[in-house]
Amino acid sequence: MRPEALEAYVEAAQRFPANPGSMHVYGHAARSALAYGREQICAALNFHDGRLIFTSGGTEANNLILQSALARGIPVRIARNTHPSCWYATMESSGQVGVLPLNRQGLIDREFLIRQLKEHQPTLISVSHACNETGVVQPVEELADLCERGGHLLHIDATQTVGHMPIDLEQIPAHFISFSAHKFGGPRGVGGLLAREAPLLTSQLHGGSQEGGLRAGTENLPAAMATAVALESAQEGLTSEIPRLRSLASTLANTLCSSWSNVLINSDLEKGLPGLVSFCFPGHSGHDLVLELSAEGFAVSAGSACHAGSVLPSRAVLSMGRTEKEALGSLRVSFGEASTTSSASEFSDRLLALLHLSSST
Ligand SMILES: Cc1ncc(COP(=O)(O)O)c(C=O)c1O
Repeated sequence: MRPEALEAYVEAAQRFPANPGSMHVYGHAARSALAYGREQICAALNFHDGRLIFTSGGTEANNLILQSALARGIPVRIARNTHPSCWYATMESSGQVGVLPLNRQGLIDREFLIRQLKEHQPTLISVSHACNETGVVQPVEELADLCERGGHLLHIDATQTVGHMPIDLEQIPAHFISFSAHKFGGPRGVGGLLAREAPLLTSQLHGGSQEGGLRAGTENLPAAMATAVALESAQEGLTSEIPRLRSLASTLANTLCSSWSNVLINSDLEKGLPGLVSFCFPGHSGHDLVLELSAEGFAVSAGSACHAGSVLPSRAVLSMGRTEKEALGSLRVSFGEASTTSSASEFSDRLLALLHLSSST
């Protein structure tokens, strides 16, 4: 957690020990503090025409909107590369749910989407702003416009982008936007759903009337206050951080591509999520590379998932037209605030060695 967010967390926990729902003076103070944190988050994202429902993170925010839509009989179309919290929240309702294919760049097939929007009225379209595996960023302004014109609803899972890219929600008229605090240096276990069409939601948790009756349970006030501070800090540093992270990712990609012509890049290094680069190393196991790099102190991930003892290729990487063999060799490298030029270069050397390559740069 960012130190300033931790400080805000501790301070709020000490200053406002009461339940924000209590009617006494201490409850009132806690309620005011919670309202202030909520306002700060909305202001940081330039969101002024809806409500923020605090949740336990991106997973719960995604489930809240998707399950609510399904419960109301609204057809849902989700992008093929969505996070498991969207995919598995909908996949059991197969009759009502369809999948939006992607092109080879990982972008939603626009023509397919337009055909879908003509067929069903109204439909909820759900996309990841940036894919958590490839970092490909969808043109959400354009998607929001398409949905708005056809009377459809748009949900954007912005868990990967809030705090990592400038986001002005006044320019993105999506109806629902999910985020998660731990992605930008806030506490784990808190996030939210920004809703312009809140009446469409139904609480997935039964109990009290917190969060306007849309999320029962005592609010986590310290976490909400810390989230607001973390978001402001993360956004402040973006102007210098984005080019720095892009440069680290491009240097690594260039080194690998110039050492081996079979390397495939699944990310858009100029327009995608800054600092994220997803590779396919055909013939290698992404899963094994993760374990080998971990043994050397590097934390990276493979899109593949272990299921019942076997390794399954990444859905997000396959959806870009990669073969199963290519997808099994995928590796996601994510540079962050703690990454330096020298740690990136050390990483690059170790990865080349594990791939039995030598640098030609
Ligand atoms: C795109 C995306 N959506 C949702 C989630 C889930 O968020 P949380 O861990 O806060 O539940 C993640 C987490 O990595 C994510 O990357």
